[in-house]
Amino acid sequence: MKGRESGMPQKEMWETFFDPKALLKTMGIDNRVQDVVEFGCGYGTFTIPAAQLIRGTVYAIDIEKEMIEQAANEAAVRGLHNIKTLLRDFMLEGTGLSNDSVDYVMLFNILHIERPEIMLNESFRILRHNGKLGIIHWNHDPATPRGPSMNIRPTPEMCIQWAKKAGFVKQELHDLKPYHYGIVLKKGDSK
Ligand SMILES: C[S@@+](CC[C@H](N)C(=O)[O-])C[C@H]1O[C@@H](n2cnc3c(N)ncnc32)[C@H](O)[C@@H]1O
Repeated sequence: MKGRESGMPQKEMWETFFDPKALLKTMGIDNRVQDVVEFGCGYGTFTIPAAQLIRGTVYAIDIEKEMIEQAANEAAVRGLHNIKTLLRDFMLEGTGLSNDSVDYVMLFNILHIERPEIMLNESFRILRHNGKLGIIHWNHDPATPRGPSMNIRPTPEMCIQWAKKAGFVKQELHDLKPYHYGIVLKKGDSK
């Protein structure tokens, strides 16, 4: 089931809202990271630079065939062989990845959809011990040029509370100017 208000505007417009490589570095994605999963990769705005920064594989999941094709095509054009695209509904089917098998999960612009705990519990399951969860989302401010409706747009405090409930420990909060915030959490020892 595709999450509410998770469609994308035109790629050209979407990509004016971020500096993806700089944002990823701030969020702790660099060459010390092995394998990464992105829930809802969209055009691959963050998938592509993540694959260029890390050592292992980026698993890019999306429910939309068109998004998966665009991300895969972009990877091919750039000669990147460490992106594995997965056409899949992560709400109904999960990620299909093994327990304790990845180092970083990206939940980028997605935690406003229904049942955020499903994504957070699945993230906790697939992350290795000391693995990281990165959440970014639109500022809780109606003046942002895009973003989900304010009544479903989570605040950083809400995201942190949900993630802690899933077992994560908060590490960092970032102001990702101009329109986003970022939260980095760690998979703690036990739930
Ligand atoms: C707002 S976009 C964010 C894309 C990307 N993370 C970014 O920040 O550029 C959300 C993406 O999640 C995908 N999506 C929504 N519900 C999904 C589901 N249940 N399973 C897999 N993908 C889903 C949408 O198709 C869309 O491409």
